[in-house]
Parts: sequence; structure tokens; C-alpha cells
Amino acid sequence: MRATKMIEGHLEIEVPAGVPAWDVDPYDTAILSDPTEYFKELRSKGPFAYLPRYSMLACGRFEETKEVFSDWHRFVSSRGVGIHDFSLEEPWRPPSIVLEVDPPYHTKTRTVIERALSPRAVGKLRVSFREAADKLIDELLEKESFDAVSELAEAFSTTVFPDAVGLGETDRRRLVDYGELVFSALGPDNELRRNSMAKGLEAGSWIMEQCQRDRLKPEGFGAAIYAAADEGEITEEEAGMLVRSLLSAGIDTTVTALGSAIWCLARNPEQFQRLKADPQLARWAFEETLRYISPVHSFCRTADVDTEVSGIKIVKGTKILCVLGAANLDENHWPEADKFDIERKPSDHLALGVGIHACVGQNVARAEGEAMLTAVANKVGSIELSDEALWRPNNSIRTLDRLPVRFCAA
Ligand code: HEM
Repeated sequence: MRATKMIEGHLEIEVPAGVPAWDVDPYDTAILSDPTEYFKELRSKGPFAYLPRYSMLACGRFEETKEVFSDWHRFVSSRGVGIHDFSLEEPWRPPSIVLEVDPPYHTKTRTVIERALSPRAVGKLRVSFREAADKLIDELLEKESFDAVSELAEAFSTTVFPDAVGLGETDRRRLVDYGELVFSALGPDNELRRNSMAKGLEAGSWIMEQCQRDRLKPEGFGAAIYAAADEGEITEEEAGMLVRSLLSAGIDTTVTALGSAIWCLARNPEQFQRLKADPQLARWAFEETLRYISPVHSFCRTADVDTEVSGIKIVKGTKILCVLGAANLDENHWPEADKFDIERKPSDHLALGVGIHACVGQNVARAEGEAMLTAVANKVGSIELSDEALWRPNNSIRTLDRLPVRFCAA
């Protein structure tokens, strides 16, 4: 007999046969601040664990996480990529028309956004990204010490990215707070979610205003998306929603990745010296950071059919927490997975997703990462932590709150 009760906006399920129940709260702030042991234990439970507190499954091994995350026929995104099931509960904002939809509608919106963010369009930005990174690093070298989260990662991403989108104005706080809200809202009704709602909702109305055609410069990703509305491919309203997707997904993720990259290099000085010896490794240092500290630690899928994965029966309506951060540290997939190694070249990590929803902004993220890490490799002699790093718990992203560092000139 099937359960019909609701829990945190989704269907309560019975424990599937062969799946261990594990009384852990993956949204606990201590775990979110340092998930290493939780990731390990999750993988040790088998292909899936059942989390009684939320009545959902969680997976953290590479193979199953990849299978569930990429098979959109069976595990849909249209029922929400967070804990809430949009087919049962109204979402807090109109859903994303690219991230939170399935084909055939997804194919239409994805085509438009993919064209706007094409390798050619992103290629044109590389020089300005490099110049901005060089200038910022020169300024930071003048300081005794600084916070690499606010003064490097946020300062860089909230300048170059809004400019690439073509925003008429930028506002670092609102952009970051809105991203924090969007990612925290994917989790349960906990204090983190409530706090980010309180902080980010005002930013939300500002974001929506910036997405309007008349606010955008004639050159930029935003204008390219509106050009598709002129061609009748999408409506004017859909164009605004797609620009919103860029602003929701494109700031906090890269801020997180840049902050974590500096953290990894500061803690692994021999790796930083490898990078300095060959700055061409900048793109791989960024990639290894994504694997090692996956910015999106977990997103959900919902089973839309009765199905089976690795011999485990999964009933329709089951929410599955896909723990990308754990999968990217699976020692069965990467030897010495817990070692940060910029020469590993981990091209198949899951940090940018996989399958039809794989990050559409990955070229932009990589261009930002490469520009920044090349500038750091060329100009900085050594990186020292000048105080303790502090993590900022969030229901879906793993991000630093503060990273006090000192750069010594090369
Ligand atoms: C290091 C930085 C980034 C990380 C780690 C990241 C991560 C991800 C992940 C894991 C997904 C897949 C979500 C899923 O399958 O449910 C995704 C999708 C997406 N990302 Fe990113 N992202 C980053 C940067 C960006 C940037 C810079 C943009 C905008 C230019 C962006 C826009 C999007 C959009 C619109 C989607 C939805 C694509 C779809 O559903 O077809 N992301 N991202």
C-alpha cells in the first residue's frame, strides 16, 4: 500500500526494501558547514539511504548519483530540484522555465539560453575577464590582508558577470542575497531558509526589474535572449524569466567556486607552486576545485514513474537528494579522492551537472575561473591564511562566508 501523507512539501514514502534508514539531517548547520564525514557515511550506506526525518532517499555514490541526476525521463526536474514537489505544493516563486521544466518545453528555452551563452559569445569576454582579474589582484597585493570572499570572489563575479549579461546597474549585496535565497529555498522550512527569505525577498523585486528589456544594454547575454523574443521563438515574458535564470544561477555559484579555489590553494602550497610553474593549469585548478568542493552540494530529482536503480525499487513520487558533493569525492571513481590535485584533470565530475540540464553557464564559469586563477598564478608569490576560514551554511550550496588571506607578491 502506498503512503499519501505529505512531509516538507512532498509525498511521504515507505522505506524501499534493501535501503538502510539513516537518522541524519543533511540540512543541519554543522553538517552544511563541514560535510566531509556525512559525505563519507552516505557513500558507505550503499546506493541509497532513506532519511526518515524527510522521508526521502539520498544518494552519494558516483554511479547512482549520475544515473538519477541525468535520466530526465524517470527522474524529472519539473517537480522541483529541491525538497518540495511542485506537483503537490505551490512553489515560493514562479519556477525557472529552464531548470525546473522537462522536455519538450525545456528544449525550447534551453536552445535560446544556450545560443546566448555560446562559446563564441563567451570567447569575446575572455580579454575583459583577464583584464579585470589582473587589476583586482594588483589592488589586493597592496593590502596587508583581505577577505577573499567579499574582496576577491564577490568583487570579481558581481562586476564581470552583470556586465556580461548587460545589466545597467550592479548591486553586489542584492545579487548575492538573491542567489543565497534561491539556493536555500530548495531545502526544508528551517532557519536557514527563513533567514534567506527575509534577506533576499527585497532583492528579488530588484532582480526582476533588472531583467526587463529596457534595463539591459544592447550587447550582452540579456539582449541576445530578448532577440529570440523578437524572432517569435519565445515570448517577451519568457525572455525576462530566462534573464532571471542567469542572475539566479550565475553569481553565488561562481563566487563560491572562486572562494573555494583560493582556500584550496592556500591550504596546498605545493599545488599553488605547481600552478605558478605552469599557469596553463589554471583551468584544471578550477576544475579540480569544483570536484573537491562542489559549489552545489545537493539538488533533488523526483521519480515520475515506478522504477529501479541498482536493484532498489523506487516508487513514483519519491524525492531523491542527489548529493553531488559526495559523489565527486567517491574513491571508487577517483583514486585518492580526498586529495586536491590540480593535475588530476577531472573532466567527468558532476559539479556542473550532467545530461540535458548540465550547467548552461559552464563556459562563463570556466572563463571567470581561468581568468582569476591565471592572474593569481602570474602575480602572487604565495598565499597565506591570515585567520580562520568560516563557512556559510546553505541548503544547497557549499560556500565560504569569510576567508582572510595575505597575498605576497611574486
Ligand atoms: C562554478 C559555477 C557554477 C556551478 C558549480 C553551476 C552548477 C550547476 C549545476 C549543478 C546545474 C545542473 C542543475 C540540475 O541539473 O538540476 C546547473 C544548471 C544551470 N546553470 Fe549553472 N553553475 C555554475 C555557473 C553558472 C553560471 C555562470 C550561469 C549563468 C551564466 C549558470 C546558469 C545555469 C542555468 C540557467 C542552469 C539550468 C540549465 C538547465 O536546466 O538546462 N550557471 N548549474
